[in-house]
Amino acid sequence: MLAGKHIALYVTGGIAAYKAASLVRELIRRGAEVRVAETEGATAFVTPLTFQVLSKHVVYTDRFKQEDAAEVAHIALADWTDIAIIAPATADVIGKLANGIADDFVTTALLATVAPKYIAPAMNVHMLANSAVARNLAQLQQDGFDVIDPAVGFLAEGYSGKGRLPEPHEIADYVAHKSNPQQLPLQGKKVIITAGGTRERLDPVRFIGNDSSGKMGYALAEAARDLGAEVILISAKTNLSAPTGIMLISVETAAQMSQAVQAQFKTAAIVIMAAAVSDYRPKQVAKEKIKKTAVTLTLELEKTPDILATLGQNKQQQYLIGFAAETQNIAEYAQGKLTAKKANMIVANDVSNRNAGFNVSTNKVTIFRPNQGPLDLPLADKHVIAREILAQAVEDLKLN
Ligand SMILES: Cc1cc2nc3c(=O)[nH]c(=O)nc-3n(C[C@H](O)[C@H](O)[C@H](O)COP(=O)(O)O)c2cc1C
Repeated sequence: MLAGKHIALYVTGGIAAYKAASLVRELIRRGAEVRVAETEGATAFVTPLTFQVLSKHVVYTDRFKQEDAAEVAHIALADWTDIAIIAPATADVIGKLANGIADDFVTTALLATVAPKYIAPAMNVHMLANSAVARNLAQLQQDGFDVIDPAVGFLAEGYSGKGRLPEPHEIADYVAHKSNPQQLPLQGKKVIITAGGTRERLDPVRFIGNDSSGKMGYALAEAARDLGAEVILISAKTNLSAPTGIMLISVETAAQMSQAVQAQFKTAAIVIMAAAVSDYRPKQVAKEKIKKTAVTLTLELEKTPDILATLGQNKQQQYLIGFAAETQNIAEYAQGKLTAKKANMIVANDVSNRNAGFNVSTNKVTIFRPNQGPLDLPLADKHVIAREILAQAVEDLKLN
């Protein structure tokens, strides 16, 4: 989708500048030709030589260094550009661009660029929340810049927060989708995906949970986004950072997940229940930490809402996909679930297989659908499996 595109990558002086090196490779891997410009600050983090070797082009750093007498370098780069990406973008450069300041190569070339401009802010969580930075970002958005939402996660400062530069492949994907003029199969369709393992509280510090890592659901969210969908990811706690370009709704319990899904369900085209939802929850949640006094402790559990079954009963246009994580009689159970829940697809995986199911990056699944034979997919990375599941749904919905 980026094949043949001329991409000008502007790197500014933030700690995430090191990721820009991988971004060059990701863009080239997608067929783009990349030229890089750095601020002086950026060169303190990554040398121009690194970008020169990766992009196979001279790197622009100095607006007064004009190597070709026949042209003005910053204008030549601006005119050459099909897509401009500023990643990472410092608070400083955001401020300059929002105010039309052109005092180095990067800001001067960007002021002269009429091609679409993507800007990926990356900074400390408090810098990002600063009202001047927020104001400048809003201004850039108004001026037509496409602002790539910073990711939430572990920051270089040693604590967690919003402000991380999304992963290079996520930025490349985002730009590829946004700049792809052709219609993607899930364009304009809402896809709800649940992910992670729900937690049911016993007391303020304990819960009943499961081993789900959320990887399958997050891979599905990325795959649906890549097909053009508006993705709502309803996630129980995971260690994963939110993929860019999707709406993340965080929940803890099965009841909260059920409520969040119901609220989005009516207008959804596809609903994928990839979360490992607790079947039972404690009947009573202790207000205080349960003390270690009794020799034995009996917990009384009650059933949680069966989200998939409720959706099956209420569904209209929605294409429903459920997961069956089993350790035995997988086919039989999946077929039963297909009918009982009125689902359009059940993706069954054998969680007793060491390379499939919970907490690993790969999966081995079989797809079951009404009136069709089972479809066995080979062991593969969860991203590959996710793309295949969605491709099958797109085919069933005749959207391709
Ligand atoms: C170690 C270090 C890390 C920095 N990381 C960031 C950052 O992640 N984001 C940011 O906006 N500024 C960061 N700064 C501040 C910028 O480097 C500073 O504002 C500089 O003037 C930016 O210049 P430039 O926008 O021309 O690249 C950092 C500074 C230092 C010394």
